[in-house]
Amino acid sequence: MYSFRTKQMSVPVITIDGPGGSGKGTIAMRLAQNLGWHYLDSGALYRIVAVVAMERAIEADNEQALGELAEHLEFSLSFTGDNVATLLDGIRITPKLRSEEAGVFASNIAVVPAVRAALVQRQREFRKLPGLVAEGRDMGTVIFPDAKLKIFLTASVEARADRRYKQLKEKGENVNLSRLFRDIEKRDIRDMSRSISPLTPAQDAQLIDSTEMSIEMVLEEIHKLLEEN
Ligand code: DC
Repeated sequence: MYSFRTKQMSVPVITIDGPGGSGKGTIAMRLAQNLGWHYLDSGALYRIVAVVAMERAIEADNEQALGELAEHLEFSLSFTGDNVATLLDGIRITPKLRSEEAGVFASNIAVVPAVRAALVQRQREFRKLPGLVAEGRDMGTVIFPDAKLKIFLTASVEARADRRYKQLKEKGENVNLSRLFRDIEKRDIRDMSRSISPLTPAQDAQLIDSTEMSIEMVLEEIHKLLEEN
């Protein structure tokens, strides 16, 4: 029988993993737009759980409460043009999600096994025709191991801190560059050293270092790799 799972597995996926500030968000979104495919910002799922947990004063070590939240919380992510809207109870919460505070707490709760387990299936549901571009930390290693193309995008800590600084400044957030640098380093260590689904390239991933590259150059490189695959 042709099951739903078999049908889903035939939908092509491109994964873009890497640390924060590597440019994977912008690049994945642009790639999805170019191809007319769906887009998954997996970090947004962790950020949603983090923001709600903070509002409800759930601590990062309360595995049971966090796991239940990740499993049952109703939210929607939609992608139109170059915009991702996150709705929680019908209310747009996108700006809150993008704060540095939400990112740091998201990284803290991302080490909780029950949270990761609850989000596996929720992420796979984004796999729909004609295709999906998924970005995060474990897209190529854990969530979509059969992806047709896997990219691991990196950049130096200095370049990433600089990019984040500009992004946050544009949004009117009050930021300090050296603190941002330290936070990024700390977050990298936590994301790379956790025991489940750490941030690491899949064995069959193509590595791209974007330190000296523009978004256009990275996109061109990915399109080239797509043609070769
Ligand atoms: O990509 P981001 O900055 O929005 O992600 C926020 C945090 O969520 C990140 O520091 C770790 C966690 N995360 C994860 O553990 N796995 C993913 N696939 C995506 C994000």
